[in-house]
Amino acid sequence: MDPLAELVGESPAMEVVRDQVRRLLTPRETGRRLPSILIQGETGTGKGLVARTIHRAGPRADGPFVDVNCAAIPETLIEAELFGFERGAFTDARRAKAGLFQAAHRGTIFLDEIGLLPEPLQAKLLKVLEEQAVRRLGATTAEPVDTWIISATNADLQAAVRQRAFREDLYHRLAVLTLRLPPLRERDTDVLVLARRFLERTCADYGLPPKRFAPDAEARLQAYPWPGNIRELSNVIERVALLAEGDLVTADTLELRTLPMAEPTAAAPAGTSRARRRSSAFRATRSAPASTSSGCGPEARPRRHRTVADAPSARRRRRPPSRPGPWPRHRCPRRRRFAGSSARWPFSA
Ligand SMILES: Nc1ncnc2c1ncn2[C@@H]1O[C@H](COP(=O)(O)OP(=O)(O)OP(=O)(O)O)[C@@H](O)[C@H]1O
Ligand SMILES: [Mg+2]
Repeated sequence: MDPLAELVGESPAMEVVRDQVRRLLTPRETGRRLPSILIQGETGTGKGLVARTIHRAGPRADGPFVDVNCAAIPETLIEAELFGFERGAFTDARRAKAGLFQAAHRGTIFLDEIGLLPEPLQAKLLKVLEEQAVRRLGATTAEPVDTWIISATNADLQAAVRQRAFREDLYHRLAVLTLRLPPLRERDTDVLVLARRFLERTCADYGLPPKRFAPDAEARLQAYPWPGNIRELSNVIERVALLAEGDLVTADTLELRTLPMAEPTAAAPAGTSRARRRSSAFRATRSAPASTSSGCGPEARPRRHRTVADAPSARRRRRPPSRPGPWPRHRCPRRRRFAGSSARWPFSA
């Protein structure tokens, strides 16, 4: 069986991704060194699935696959979690513990949401990549690790590098090969292919009689811009599989709001494909409040966590205006009070 069969989709954009994955795997079957791979794509486009598929189809398939979500581990714990620690390294370190890098020895470590890795950790990760060795917290020597690094992000890491929120040297180390996963709105025919697959699978999983989409439901599925991408689609289909009466799923059962960007737009240049038109219309309106939510559960809501791309601008906003006052800025006792406020600096001319 084709190991990439799990990546459902027949669109040209998905064919490109599958081709890239095949190419990156083929010449590595006999080689010893494996290139770091960075997977980029919006939320729900399948970055985690692609990472697991690469591991399973690649030369490390017999080794461990260690999935680390850099955003989910508290900042104070992430160093100990990733690199391990010696007994007594900190107050609660009663026993030495190996880190996730060691756990992934001779396998793959998947660093998800790498854009949210705190800056001090970026330096330490770079050292691990360069030396292929890990030094536990509190240890005096480093242990060699042989780990294939696959990372993923939904942030624009190159922009983060330009804004100095992400180390450039680390970016180049992680992105030896880059895979860009297309958003669902650019995958045209894949919406229906995936929707039918999910409907069939959900009905089978829940022991329900098979269902199919009515023509109006198919039209609605294709017109909707899917801000939450495949995860959102899968959630919607699971819900309708459970709630739809009879064997026909109608447009109304989908409960997808007709969003302004879902309509073929006059603003889109003539001659562009439907996927393109949907995509440009989506981009133009995606900042509209609530317009990106289908109300279909948490996956459909835009994420609220900070992205690397936001970091510098956020910092800039918090800083007080740099106008001369009676004190040098760093000595001013009232400086903190004004941090983050939009009030004007009181001592400005
Ligand atoms: N090509 C695909 N074929 C079938 N299912 C897919 C495909 N891509 C993604 N999925 C499914 O969509 C869901 C979301 O995928 P995944 O978690 O890999 O997305 P992600 O890009 O990692 O999202 P996030 O950025 O939010 O972590 C999963 O259930 C996954 O199995
Ligand atoms: Mg993911």
